Amino acid sequence: MSTLAVYPGSFDPLTNGHVDIISRGVRMFDRIIIAILVNAEKSPMFTMQERVEIAREVFKAYPQVEVDTFNGLLVDYVERKQAQVIVRGLRAVSDFEFEFQMALMNRRLNAKIETVFMMPAEQYTYISSRLIKEVFSLGGRVHGLVPELVEQRLREKGLAKEA
Ligand code: PNS
Repeated sequence: MSTLAVYPGSFDPLTNGHVDIISRGVRMFDRIIIAILVNAEKSPMFTMQERVEIAREVFKAYPQVEVDTFNGLLVDYVERKQAQVIVRGLRAVSDFEFEFQMALMNRRLNAKIETVFMMPAEQYTYISSRLIKEVFSLGGRVHGLVPELVEQRLREKGLAKEA
């Protein structure tokens, strides 16, 4: 049986931490869908279309990685896609409580779907999309923390002097 995993999130923007998790995931699962939540934030930095475009471009060399959007309950989306697994990254103990709640709630909603947690490489454990946006918009350097395409798109948005 081939395993299909869904990697859900806001991806506003995609970071190298996300890329690291997906790169590990392709070694474990036959296919992965990067599922971007529609309207997760009221005022995202990147539009849904930009986030989809970025993820597709970054993973264009990986035929087993698909990029999609979803709204509503994650478990309903996973079921519709006939996927078996939800992948989430765990960076630190601070992530654990929220992830634990989500995994157990999702299991209660659909016991057939399993959540698998993956640890990113240690150099990415402190990165979050929120911090990237904050640092960049205050003029800080985010080089090496996000894919080059994200860095370029941030610069195009003219939010800081230099990436
Ligand atoms: O990147 P994020 O913001 O940490 O991702 C959170 C996400 C998208 C995985 C979560 O908010 C989600 O699954 N939302 C969909 C609605 C849903 O199913 N909520 C119940 C989860 S227990």
